[in-house]
Amino acid sequence: MNILILGSGGREHSLAWAIKQNPKCDRLICAPGNAGMAAISDCATLDIMDGGAVRDFCLENAVDFVVIGPEAPLAAGVADRLRAAGILCFGPSQAAAALESSKSFTKEVCAAAGAPTAGWARFDQVEAAAAYIAAQGAPIVVKADGLAAGKGVVVATDVAEAQAAAKDMLGGAFGAAGAEVVIEEFMPGEEASLFVLCNGTSCLPIGSAQDHKRAHDGDSGSNTGGMGAYSPAPVLTPEIEAEVMARIIRPTLAEMVRRGTPYQGVLYAGLMIDKGQARLVEYNVRFGDPECQVLAMRLGAQILDLLLATAEDRLHEIAVNFAPDHALSVVMASRGYPGAYQKGSEIHGLDALPSNSHQEVFHAGTSARDGQITATGGRVLNITARADSLRAARRLAYEMVDAIDWPEGFCRRDIGWRALEG
Ligand code: AMP
Ligand code: GLY
Repeated sequence: MNILILGSGGREHSLAWAIKQNPKCDRLICAPGNAGMAAISDCATLDIMDGGAVRDFCLENAVDFVVIGPEAPLAAGVADRLRAAGILCFGPSQAAAALESSKSFTKEVCAAAGAPTAGWARFDQVEAAAAYIAAQGAPIVVKADGLAAGKGVVVATDVAEAQAAAKDMLGGAFGAAGAEVVIEEFMPGEEASLFVLCNGTSCLPIGSAQDHKRAHDGDSGSNTGGMGAYSPAPVLTPEIEAEVMARIIRPTLAEMVRRGTPYQGVLYAGLMIDKGQARLVEYNVRFGDPECQVLAMRLGAQILDLLLATAEDRLHEIAVNFAPDHALSVVMASRGYPGAYQKGSEIHGLDALPSNSHQEVFHAGTSARDGQITATGGRVLNITARADSLRAARRLAYEMVDAIDWPEGFCRRDIGWRALEG
């Protein structure tokens, strides 16, 4: 079959890498893609936010299946446009994507579903928000309601900081995304993510992972899109996972069906685990990046069968073939990220690296000119390895990192610390 992947990050490269290994995949097209994806697929120039343009491209190129990587086209209704044209597609409708695009929507769904999450209130006026914050006390969490590229959350350690954040957001710091703020109880604990394939009320967990959000070692520095990940996350024990499925995921899916907006795609549950109990921090309506890279390496070619079974509503027929292994991915980013950084620096040494089922470099912000790879984004490479133990996977990943010659890049040296030393 002909498959189109929308996106251009490490997440989409890892999906392309795994899907390409499946004999069901005849032609693989990525749009817009990056230098890594261009090496294993045809890359197309296409505005992935324009559902009509994506639909026309699919019809012209006999695309049988579309995998939508990022949240923005999902929130823009691209999956709806494709399905309306009879094109098979992996990813939720615009209405169901509200589980990521609106924090207050998710809170309402959780309340109706009885899913455990932080206590909360919603405000569109600065004075009322400030009074609520003062009454609740700190620590407390202030969130812009809409999509803010991962930057719309302030975990405040004192009341004044929280009030200033609410004032900023309601004053337009995030545009329309901050027209409302959600103010939440601070949840202590350790974070982990569970990834669940869903169609209506059918669901199938496909693995856990832990991200590293801060830019620098020891979880210091600014928040980023994610500087590294590993899978599985040992904090998410089989017992806790079963609880999460029973108390959070299944009730959420039932509530989405009840509302007439069934969820289809991967549901990424961000969880806070404290004293053996999990509460929901947030939902995302797509794979995590870089969490997808470790999941894709562990699942390999079967990922296509799993995504197809989801889109075709056959999840009850399929099982995941889990290997008892571990994967770890180190993000290499341009110096300065997540702040300002230079574009266009050359990266050397990639050709000599191993490229196999246990070691691979997934590209994010790269392009190729005359065979030379250059950095074009903040997060640039995902150095990913898999082994029998997390420690071995980490060693393999950092061996590759050390063989890359890119003075303008940096990475964290402590990916996996919570599981290995924590
Ligand atoms: P979100 O975009 O909602 O995932 O929030 C970003 C990050 O802020 C999360 O990954 C957590 O580290 C932190 N966070 C969000 N909500 C809470 C909360 N209620 N309690 C503690 N930490 C939180
Ligand atoms: N790595 C965090 C995310 O994809 O949202």
